[in-house]
Amino acid sequence: MTTPGKVRIGVFDSGFGGLTVLRALLPQIPSAEFFYLGDTARLPYGSKSQATVARYAVESAQLLESYGADYLVIACNTASALALDAIKSAAHVPVLGVIETGAGSAAAASATRDVLVLATQATVDSHAYARACAAHGLRSIEKACPLLVPLIEEGWTDQPVTREVLRIYLQQAQTESKAAGLAFDTVLLGCTHYPLLRGLLREALPEDVTILDSAESTAQRVRAQLESLKSLATNHSRPGDANVAVCHFFATDSVDKFRTLGSRFLGQPIEKVELIDLGG
Ligand code: DGL
Repeated sequence: MTTPGKVRIGVFDSGFGGLTVLRALLPQIPSAEFFYLGDTARLPYGSKSQATVARYAVESAQLLESYGADYLVIACNTASALALDAIKSAAHVPVLGVIETGAGSAAAASATRDVLVLATQATVDSHAYARACAAHGLRSIEKACPLLVPLIEEGWTDQPVTREVLRIYLQQAQTESKAAGLAFDTVLLGCTHYPLLRGLLREALPEDVTILDSAESTAQRVRAQLESLKSLATNHSRPGDANVAVCHFFATDSVDKFRTLGSRFLGQPIEKVELIDLGG
């Protein structure tokens, strides 16, 4: 299945959201061969325990490695927050999560040094973002938004109900932020689904608040790490040569749904998806 001479990058998410990271990776590393796995049968991870998320994430990472991945991108905030160490221990190739890269881009953007992180319940409960932000000298408010993933999965990215749910979450976050004495000027999307609500978020937030996700910074970090590992030495690729990348897609549930919904996340049609059984 692999293409000789190409660096093979495994990208993993609990579902479709990680395709926003793949979307950023494609123009950064156009000469790579990508293996994307969405564990759609077991999504959402964001409401599950650390032990369960770690088991699912390790199984998924091992599958990608068995397909020949030379490098793994954990394009799922929940898996990065709860299971990065477990994945790194189980893997034999370099592994990158999205929490540290997201916090790094918030640090570069924030003038007030106060950041609002929107994420799943499990990611918030882990406080992985609070730690990563603090390491960059940022204060943070972490707000769990458990209703957003199901709304996005339903394709309701521009519906009045989604607008209203978002408005309530942001209002609560603003109240919590004020009570804690924070004045955030940056909102970090700590869930790979949330970039699909960027338009609604932009409408709901003051103009001077920056909205960030970790897709772009993660893609840049992967490229830099691969260059330092000399994996791209023979590829002569430049960012922008987006059409050369080869992508293979795998899902643990309906391939039809993956094609339809996934194309929306990736921003281009997905033709072929292989069904994978990772058990329960
Ligand atoms: N991919 C997950 C994340 O980025 C969101 C979906 C889920 O809960 O599984 O946190």
